Amino acid sequence: MRIDVLTLFPQMFESPLNHSILKRAQDVGLVQIALTDIRDFAADSFRKVDDKPYGGGPGMVMMPGPVFDCFEHVQKLSSEKGRVILLTPQGQRFDQAKALELSAENRLILIAGKYEGFDERIRIGLGAEQISIGDYVLNGGELAAMVIIDAVVRLLPGALGDEDSPKDDSFSDGLLEYPQYTRPEVFRDMKVPDILLSGDHAKIAEWRKQQALERTKKWRPDLLKDCDKK
Ligand code: ADE
Repeated sequence: MRIDVLTLFPQMFESPLNHSILKRAQDVGLVQIALTDIRDFAADSFRKVDDKPYGGGPGMVMMPGPVFDCFEHVQKLSSEKGRVILLTPQGQRFDQAKALELSAENRLILIAGKYEGFDERIRIGLGAEQISIGDYVLNGGELAAMVIIDAVVRLLPGALGDEDSPKDDSFSDGLLEYPQYTRPEVFRDMKVPDILLSGDHAKIAEWRKQQALERTKKWRPDLLKDCDKK
């Protein structure tokens, strides 16, 4: 998979992309992630990329020119057309199902905006789909892009050491994850449930399923309602 990110702050990505699973996935060639600075495509010597909104109002809006020029440059970096995604609080809410869907693509082109938003012609002209990571407003799309990259890359076959682990994640079956324990068997008077020490794998699987269901009912009943709708 190839992921391109168009951003005004490429340096923000340095640490998250250079640690742990994201770093390893790039090192072994599972994913190639390229950052391009939108400001390099500004038309003037001040590197201006935003301007006041027509009709008045607070804040600054991303100008279409630099984003289009940057996009057209980036698109030519690979023969894959790519799925174009604009990060914005107006977008469709990102979830595990969307992460799975995106992990099947050969190329993603993520566009992170700063300031109060994008000139509407960017969305229309680039035919971009919009994704939000939640119902709150961030200072820009960079953190949202990193969240999406993290959630998508860990789903690429081979990204996690253990091939089975993503299918046990919370949400992968619409439920929260069952409780996990590791050594020691007793910690500050809290004991690992006997069933997990029993060696009876069928019973353990049944217990885990039950626990996942109970926790989802208790902590995220909205997820069960979503399941009913599907
Ligand atoms: N940009 C600003 N807020 C955002 C959000 N919630 N999701 C995606 N991009 C954003």
